[in-house]
Amino acid sequence: MYQSVLVTGASSGIGEATALHLAHKGFRVYAAARSADKLKGLAGLGGGSIHPVSLDVTDEASIAQALSEINAKGETLFGLINNAGISVMGPLEQLTSDEWRRQYETNVFGLVNMCAAVLPQMRGAGRGRIINIGSVAGRIAAPFQGAYASSKHAVEGLSDSLRREVEPHGIKVTVVRPGFINTPFGHQEQEGLDRFVGEGQPYSDQVQIFKSWHAKGHPTAPPPSVVAEAVHKALTAERPHARYAVPNEAIGFLALRNFLPAGIVDKIFERVNGLDAFRKRKNG
Ligand SMILES: NC(=O)c1ccc[n+]([C@@H]2O[C@H](COP(=O)([O-])OP(=O)(O)OC[C@H]3O[C@@H](n4cnc5c(N)ncnc54)[C@H](OP(=O)(O)O)[C@@H]3O)[C@@H](O)[C@H]2O)c1
Repeated sequence: MYQSVLVTGASSGIGEATALHLAHKGFRVYAAARSADKLKGLAGLGGGSIHPVSLDVTDEASIAQALSEINAKGETLFGLINNAGISVMGPLEQLTSDEWRRQYETNVFGLVNMCAAVLPQMRGAGRGRIINIGSVAGRIAAPFQGAYASSKHAVEGLSDSLRREVEPHGIKVTVVRPGFINTPFGHQEQEGLDRFVGEGQPYSDQVQIFKSWHAKGHPTAPPPSVVAEAVHKALTAERPHARYAVPNEAIGFLALRNFLPAGIVDKIFERVNGLDAFRKRKNG
């Protein structure tokens, strides 16, 4: 028998690839994005197993409406894939408080809203899986990424807590942590950094160097299907791990954070990003 899952942020990138992969693996997929119109093409590729849903994770009324539409079809969700996310990039001191809030509204409060909304039906059924799409940035934070990285650190913490709360109810919680993945996300991050480069911008040189490094990461990165496979594993494994990191390079990167002192990781980061050149220039 099929099982139903809801994937947020399915109009693009990782969410789109995940919806498609799960449909091909036999799940009934409710694919959500703020505009269901954007999901028509995806629905056409799903062989009748992908159902578009309008859902803004920052709007509790929109979440309630989407879930009532799904439940009205007699469905109880087996899985929730919290994938919708945005990245607000820039120096901490220059981001406005509204920008910080926007980052948290989607990546943290939106995800919490989604979990809270589906948990009653999962508890009622005595089973369910929640897969939260975190990031390598949820463990190791690059410069100019404070808003995004801290939001993904929050996802790690709340997922640990939730996992321990709901496991006795038959519900398993997993974080999937992608490294660089080739989606439109990287381009949006690049654009977000633009306004911090130029005459009079206090971090201009550093941001420019960081941007050049970052620009190489996404286009050469693995496709979003690698994340979709990890999500499928988390949905179907009898005992899913608390975390999956993809691709393999991401595991190596996370090991730095786990095993080396912060001062050494800072130096490695500086070298990898090319920001050591900025330090040398500044110090003469
Ligand atoms: N790409 C990477 O390198 C990478 C690495 C680590 C982690 N991640 C994480 O992976 C997830 C997906 O990223 P991606 O690379 O696939 O990005 P993407 O291509 O930009 O897709 C983001 C998706 O999120 C949706 N979204 C944004 N705000 C939303 C809201 N308020 N309500 C509902 N949906 C919303 C967008 O849908 P609409 O705008 O159409 O509503 C879109 O479908 C994010 O959580 C991101 O942090 C990505």
